[in-house]
Amino acid sequence: MAARRVALITGGGRGIGRAIALAFAREGLAVAVAARTRRQVEGTADDARDLGATALAVALDVTEPAAVGTAVREVARALGPVDVLVNNAGIAESAPFAKTDLDHWERHLRVNVTGPYLLTREVLPGMLERGWGRVVNIASLAGLAGAPYVSAYTASKHALVGLTRALAAEVAGQGVTVNAICPGYVATDMVWRGARNIAAKTGRSFEEAVAVMARANPGGRLIEPGEVAAAAVTLVHDERTNGETVILDGSPRN
Ligand SMILES: NC(=O)c1ccc[n+]([C@@H]2O[C@H](COP(=O)([O-])OP(=O)(O)OC[C@H]3O[C@@H](n4cnc5c(N)ncnc54)[C@H](OP(=O)(O)O)[C@@H]3O)[C@@H](O)[C@H]2O)c1
Repeated sequence: MAARRVALITGGGRGIGRAIALAFAREGLAVAVAARTRRQVEGTADDARDLGATALAVALDVTEPAAVGTAVREVARALGPVDVLVNNAGIAESAPFAKTDLDHWERHLRVNVTGPYLLTREVLPGMLERGWGRVVNIASLAGLAGAPYVSAYTASKHALVGLTRALAAEVAGQGVTVNAICPGYVATDMVWRGARNIAAKTGRSFEEAVAVMARANPGGRLIEPGEVAAAAVTLVHDERTNGETVILDGSPRN
């Protein structure tokens, strides 16, 4: 890449987002990490600086339209306009469909789809003007197939994949790409929370619940956050891939 690129990673305080921010820092990108928990985004930004990167921590709730605009302007002032947006912030709560309520449904859509919509709306016009940009949406295998007890999460991730595909078609040929990464279960707090929930509801041990989730991945193992980060780095360097869903399911790759 010719110029120093600026990346904004939502949900960058822990888990997958943190791994992506640090992988980008190693690649020489300037990184802004945004999430609600200030202590965590500051931790990631400090670690990115230790790797030699320019980094900024931003406290942000991606569901707040005005705050999203303010955050993007803060990043532009401190680091420059956003060249790479990673829509990674997300939530996943499981419940049988009949036990979900409207709050549960709307919470998933707001964080997992409306957040990416708001962020993308802020940065895409600038990317198109400059003729270079990358939008990487962290969806899920749940964005491509159904599973029980996660109807709101699954619907929100299908919507995120739909947004990815529609936008990719709209910006094609203008130097901007929009892609989604679709991992199976990844070794982060999200899975540990899910395993605790399964353990509480089924009487299995936490370790057994983790093993059940690992076996549910087609590759039979949990995916490491670094694997998702490596896929994001590849998409940053790749000019041609647009509108794709990059599947990470733990299967061996050739
Ligand atoms: N772990 C998996 O098995 C898995 C599999 C497939 C896809 N994914 C997707 O990967 C992404 C990252 O998940 P993870 O596994 O790293 O989970 P995680 O450890 O729970 O991290 C989620 C991140 O999103 C942030 N976030 C949540 N709500 C937010 C909001 N309203 N505004 C701003 N930030 C918010 C959290 O920070 P705050 O709480 O501080 O705001 C946190 O930094 C999610 O989109 C998830 O759906 C995960």
